[in-house]
Amino acid sequence: MSKPRLAPYAKAELALAALRPSEYTAALIQVLQAKSAAVRDAKVLEIGSGSGVVLAALGELGAASLCGIDIEEDAVASGMLLLAELGHGNTSELYLGDMWLPVAGRRFDLIVANLPHFPMERSEVQGRLPTWSAGGSNGRVLLDPFLEGLDAHLADGGRAIIAHNAFVGMEQSRKILAESGLVLNVVLTTLVYIPGDKLSRLTPGVLAAQDGRSIHRYGPYAFGDMHIVEITRGGVPA
Ligand SMILES: C[S@@+](CC[C@H](N)C(=O)[O-])C[C@H]1O[C@@H](n2cnc3c(N)ncnc32)[C@H](O)[C@@H]1O
Repeated sequence: MSKPRLAPYAKAELALAALRPSEYTAALIQVLQAKSAAVRDAKVLEIGSGSGVVLAALGELGAASLCGIDIEEDAVASGMLLLAELGHGNTSELYLGDMWLPVAGRRFDLIVANLPHFPMERSEVQGRLPTWSAGGSNGRVLLDPFLEGLDAHLADGGRAIIAHNAFVGMEQSRKILAESGLVLNVVLTTLVYIPGDKLSRLTPGVLAAQDGRSIHRYGPYAFGDMHIVEITRGGVPA
């Protein structure tokens, strides 16, 4: 693990605030805790590691090694600091980079992700970085290349566990995965609050199609169905 670059104090505080975990992060960790047998002794990869907290949880659950990738320098620095602080520095590697590029040719037992896949164009929302949650107009700008690259990076018997908004085409994801013999199962569904400034940027066609289905509005307040899904090479995983 190379040395994290520390931002000046005030900037570091802002960076940490912008990387704060979300309801998606919590749901992902909840499923990983419930599936601790799949984490123990696993070589783990997280794409879009943010604060590093999901990798930290995986380390606490007994993963053999932790690899994280993020496109934001502050995220990589924050992840390195957190993992070192929690005693996982020697088993961790964090890379600044885009999606699969830093791990070309490598395979992992468990791949996790809470990707930016909210259907909106890239913009700053609620003190987050513009790269935090925007997935382009259909939400799939990062999700599709992630799903397409999974087969080449999963070890034999490996699995992926990821956050997947219900309003971002579950069937499309299943179809992409089926092309490489992978199967998607929903393991948890929860409601996530959609703040007003995010709702106002949600692609109108997606809102129109999903309002009253996977998006639930009560006056000015909105919630979306969000799944944590598990992806394996066929069959229902343990
Ligand atoms: C929704 S956040 C999740 C962060 C963290 N995993 C969590 O659950 O709290 C998405 C993360 O993906 C990162 N990201 C965005 N585009 C990326 C890309 N092309 N490659 C790698 N990471 C990316 C963002 O910087 C951000 O940290």
